[in-house]
Amino acid sequence: MKRKLNKKNIIIISIIILIIVVEIINPIKLYNKHVLKQLNYSNSSIETILKYGKKDEVLNSKNNQVLDKIFSSKDYIDSNFNIYKDLNNSNLTNFVSLTNKLINKGYNTLEINSILKSGNEEDINNFLELDYQEEAKEYLKFDFSKLSKYQEYVDYKTKNNLDYETSVLYVNIGLNKNYYEDANTIKDFSITMLVNKYNGLDKDFIPDNLISIDKEYAIDSKQKGNKEMIENFIKMSNDCKQETGFKIIVRSGYRDYKSQEDTYNLYLKTYGLKYAESYAAHPGFSEHQTGLAVDIKAQSSNTFAGTKESKWLLENAYKYGFILRYPDDLTDITGYKYESWHYRYVGLEIAKDIKDKKMTYDEYYIRYLDK
Ligand code: DAL
Ligand code: ZN
Repeated sequence: MKRKLNKKNIIIISIIILIIVVEIINPIKLYNKHVLKQLNYSNSSIETILKYGKKDEVLNSKNNQVLDKIFSSKDYIDSNFNIYKDLNNSNLTNFVSLTNKLINKGYNTLEINSILKSGNEEDINNFLELDYQEEAKEYLKFDFSKLSKYQEYVDYKTKNNLDYETSVLYVNIGLNKNYYEDANTIKDFSITMLVNKYNGLDKDFIPDNLISIDKEYAIDSKQKGNKEMIENFIKMSNDCKQETGFKIIVRSGYRDYKSQEDTYNLYLKTYGLKYAESYAAHPGFSEHQTGLAVDIKAQSSNTFAGTKESKWLLENAYKYGFILRYPDDLTDITGYKYESWHYRYVGLEIAKDIKDKKMTYDEYYIRYLDK
């Protein structure tokens, strides 16, 4: 009897110990926590992962950084996991909550990724006001797509019957708006700044490092420009002389707001409105005010196009960081008629890339430099 009881006690005690080990110490859970910690999951993520039995999915995923943000979010909804698991990383603080709203609208992972990368929280909430947009991913798949302009893309594409990429690019440039209407104001000088009929400057904007151009390289002693631009112009002029026998000089460099106003008014008075609009910027919208643009005069002739110097520049200007800013036949994009004499300094690397890609600066800037 005594032996029997002992055996029974031992069994009971063993069961109790087992329960304690499994339920309280729980080595499997401890092990799982350890594994997840090794993958840099936070404690609150680990709780959610174990609560919903997602450990295996997590171990099979390469998306740990994103999953950690998702599992630690108070907005985590387990039935949305299949969409969450392939989301790209996002800097939006509320991105799980925004994702939930997008899922409710019917968007899939691919679409959600393209939406999240194209806008901020406000843009996404505005976009959510629209019904499900079947073409959203087509408009928003480019690096330069902007969710805030989504409706403009749709309208522009419908009106002009263009492909998605061109529609997005042209709307970002501003081509769906009238010249000078709702223009942006560019405050900061930079070698790559974009100034055109949609991006202007304050009246008192003055470029960095504005210096006079040695009169050997200019039409008179009043010409000025950005120092880096001028240094490269001088090298270019010297090499042009070496290779063609003729040097190039600056006919017009930096022009402040007032002198651009005078230039525009002179064109208007002399040649009429259409001509002035095609060849002269409104004051505040000229690249000449950035100190980075030059109108070039050839030594061999008073007209520029077709001269040896002009041909040499078309081939070689990029080596010195300059681009032909208003090429022939691209008026629809640049807003100006062909100006064989107007060159813009953008730096050596970008000038070469633009030459290779055969693009206007307006397109290049929107595609690669607009942040
Ligand atoms: N001629 C160029 C477009 C300007 O006025 O800035
Ligand atoms: Zn010019």
